[in-house]
Amino acid sequence: MKIFLDTADVEEIRTGVSWGIVDGVTTNPSHIAASGRPFREVVEEICDICPGPISAEVISTEAEGMIEEARMVSSWKPNIVVKIPVIKEGIKAIPVLAQEDIKVNATVCFSANQALLAAKAGATYISPFVGRLDTVGHDGMLLAEEILQIYRNYGFTTEVIVAAVRHPLHVAQAALMGAHITTMRFNILEQMFNHPLTDAGVEQFLADWNAAGLSS
Ligand code: E4P
Repeated sequence: MKIFLDTADVEEIRTGVSWGIVDGVTTNPSHIAASGRPFREVVEEICDICPGPISAEVISTEAEGMIEEARMVSSWKPNIVVKIPVIKEGIKAIPVLAQEDIKVNATVCFSANQALLAAKAGATYISPFVGRLDTVGHDGMLLAEEILQIYRNYGFTTEVIVAAVRHPLHVAQAALMGAHITTMRFNILEQMFNHPLTDAGVEQFLADWNAAGLSS
């Protein structure tokens, strides 16, 4: 399973990429706003740091505007993927962009039907926001599972990005169900390393080694 970072913080991205385990980045308008930097400048810098797919989202809510923005944003760097929300206007825009070989990450997905439409329209990626569903009392990971099953049933090549994850268990569940990608905040990536028994085990080995007066 590929791991994407869900941020526009270039230092976090640089660190994750240096660890050799980050395959791409998803930004959104909130992340860009939080960076305090101009949209194009920060997206281009992220594209230079990480060679994988970098998602950058359109702001328009009408198909024509989305298409225009997508053409512009995708021309900035070759690894840019354009994020299009799965509203009706977004679904209308996706086939036009697919025809032009512009990769689309269909985003803000909360239902299996939205995911079906996005795949039929030719989206390269679909992003179900699992944690936001959990927050309103629905099972976000069940949605991810349904989408994967539907795509398998009909041989869609659209890749599932499990998004808005809230803890490392979401990541492990996504991997178990065969999701193509999980995108996560940097703190969740860091949490994935941790296990208290690993820390205790390493500490014990070192203590035994040192007590015996051994050297490397
Ligand atoms: C995904 O592509 C989105 O940027 C992101 O996962 C939104 O998640 P949030 O609910 O953590 O903001």
